[in-house]
Amino acid sequence: MSEGNHRMSFTLSRFVPWGRSYDEYISMFSLSPSDLKNSILGCSDGPASFNSVLSKQKGAVVSVDPLYSCTVEQIKRRINETYETVLEQTRKNRNEFVWKNIGSVDELGKIRMSAMNEFLKDYEKGKKEKRYINAGVPELPFRDNQFDIALCSHFLFLYSEQLSEEFHFDSIKELCRVAKTVRIFPVLELGSERSRHLDAIMKRLGKDGVEVHLRKVAYEFQKGGNEMLELTKFD
Ligand SMILES: C[S@@+](CC[C@H](N)C(=O)[O-])C[C@H]1O[C@@H](n2cnc3c(N)ncnc32)[C@H](O)[C@@H]1O
Repeated sequence: MSEGNHRMSFTLSRFVPWGRSYDEYISMFSLSPSDLKNSILGCSDGPASFNSVLSKQKGAVVSVDPLYSCTVEQIKRRINETYETVLEQTRKNRNEFVWKNIGSVDELGKIRMSAMNEFLKDYEKGKKEKRYINAGVPELPFRDNQFDIALCSHFLFLYSEQLSEEFHFDSIKELCRVAKTVRIFPVLELGSERSRHLDAIMKRLGKDGVEVHLRKVAYEFQKGGNEMLELTKFD
């Protein structure tokens, strides 16, 4: 992952598609039934099944990810090429994770593959319906306050080593521009340490007219990863 000229350059060969399930999104972001009636932006949704499942329940959700520049065949091929390697790495680093709700690496593989298959089945229809849009932070093609809630799972903060504080600040400000409330999960980086940018970002956002809260959630897979950052603009 790189930040050429402050914009992320995206090439599929460097990307490992790995998508979480709808139930994981509900739990990571503490989404209530009334939250799900709002218009939702999923930033960096990749091959997660949240958009597909929520759309089938008549929810209003749009996902953005540079991955959506690819065809369904390209994404499918890349998932098949990388799936075993990801599971192997997880086996090696199994101590970094909490094996409670997901009991084993094999079960993890099944949950992720089922979520990604759900996404793949929905992808072409969703692209036509403009639910999967090829775009990314820090510049989003939406109006101010177009969405009630923006979610960002496993992108911001997770890649804090690769992505600068400035990239995080600009990206979060952009999410706050297009949505009334923003929720980001996790606030840990790879290796399960708290993000090196978190404190500075929270201070800067606070000074910039954003109400900033760390909220405990029921989800924990990376050890210690049970908090989301919730941001609401002051009126
Ligand atoms: C680890 S995946 C997380 C996928 C999904 N959110 C989940 O939790 O299962 C990270 C995603 O961030 C996407 N991404 C990379 N650069 C981005 C950018 N500039 N803006 C938005 N998303 C980006 C990647 O394409 C990838 O799909």
